[in-house]
Amino acid sequence: MELSPALAAMAAYPFVRLDEAKADARARGIDLVDFGMGEPNEETDPAIRAALQQAVAPTLLYPRATGLPELRSAIAAWLRLRFGVELDPETEIVPTLGSKEAIFSFAQAVVRPGKDLVAIPEPAYPVYERGALVAGARPCSVPLLEERGFLPDLDAIPEETWSRLACFWVNYPNNPTGAVAPVSLYEELAARAAAHDFLVCSDEAYSEIWFDETPVSALQAADRSRIVVFNTLSKRSSMPGYRSGFVAGPAAVVAALKAFRPTVGTAPQEFVQRASVVAWSDEEHVRRTRALYRRKRDLLRPALEAKGLRVAGSEASFFLWVAAPRGETSEGFAERLLGHGIVVAPGSYFGAAGEGYVRLALVPTEEECARAAAIIEEVL
Ligand SMILES: Cc1ncc(COP(=O)(O)O)c(C=O)c1O
Repeated sequence: MELSPALAAMAAYPFVRLDEAKADARARGIDLVDFGMGEPNEETDPAIRAALQQAVAPTLLYPRATGLPELRSAIAAWLRLRFGVELDPETEIVPTLGSKEAIFSFAQAVVRPGKDLVAIPEPAYPVYERGALVAGARPCSVPLLEERGFLPDLDAIPEETWSRLACFWVNYPNNPTGAVAPVSLYEELAARAAAHDFLVCSDEAYSEIWFDETPVSALQAADRSRIVVFNTLSKRSSMPGYRSGFVAGPAAVVAALKAFRPTVGTAPQEFVQRASVVAWSDEEHVRRTRALYRRKRDLLRPALEAKGLRVAGSEASFFLWVAAPRGETSEGFAERLLGHGIVVAPGSYFGAAGEGYVRLALVPTEEECARAAAIIEEVL
């Protein structure tokens, strides 16, 4: 049977391979501590859960793509509190069903003749590229190198590429490297976006998982007329299963999304939106979540460094980006660790520029992290 060429050209989602390797290790009797997938595994705050339960009414109508005004206002209030920016909840914010679907489908709303390129960092979360391919765009890879702090080298991008760009994806705090970006990156991108007529798409899923300095948002750029931000409660509020995020950006872009999204059918359920109002309105549970990731990080990082492993980037997010020992590939090192019961994601899963590293997502429990630290001490 013939399928869409974009789908046919896509390799299996790399984590499917990791699942197979894990099943194989378990079959060999190995007890695993799983740092592979970045799926938060913590309890959602009881007040958020209660809000969801109370909102499950006997009759639930189709949710509207524009979202509840209460939720858009709560998001606007959070953006003001957290980043000091003023957005109009009526025209500049739209709630999404988690952020992945909005990231994936965004290229479909903006790619057009003459604007057929989508800039994608490498290594990266795979969804930017997949979304671009399905939209019929050409992904254009922008390497993130350790010697540049995992920031894109904008001067290395040729002039003819800039003029054909529909959008330029950035993601800080970064998955998988844990690097953070200064506001100057967004200022520079905003200036180039104005000069070449493209949108800066900033995926800020990990903005609230930080340890030293509070990460900035692309919305803090002086000119945000071409900046579109994607954020989510999945990591900040440990709510991956709720599916709740938002897009914030220029009114024209948000209006286009409000026109496009009802056809896709991706409005979050009303009970999820009511729980999300509670989540965006509280910072206390977020502080507790950050403290928890800090404790896990403090268990693992010294154990890795004591073995001479270089932890690169890793300033924020719940990822540790660890250089593989000299002479070992990402997959080879990941396989060796798997043999000792420690599951990590090979850096090569995130694009060729991720080769030479492995990623640890600090999602196992503190006890499991302590156990993994002891294994590392013993076997590496
Ligand atoms: C960089 C990045 N962006 C976006 C997402 C999507 O998260 P969600 O759809 O749960 O909001 C993830 C999830 O792993 C991610 O790592």
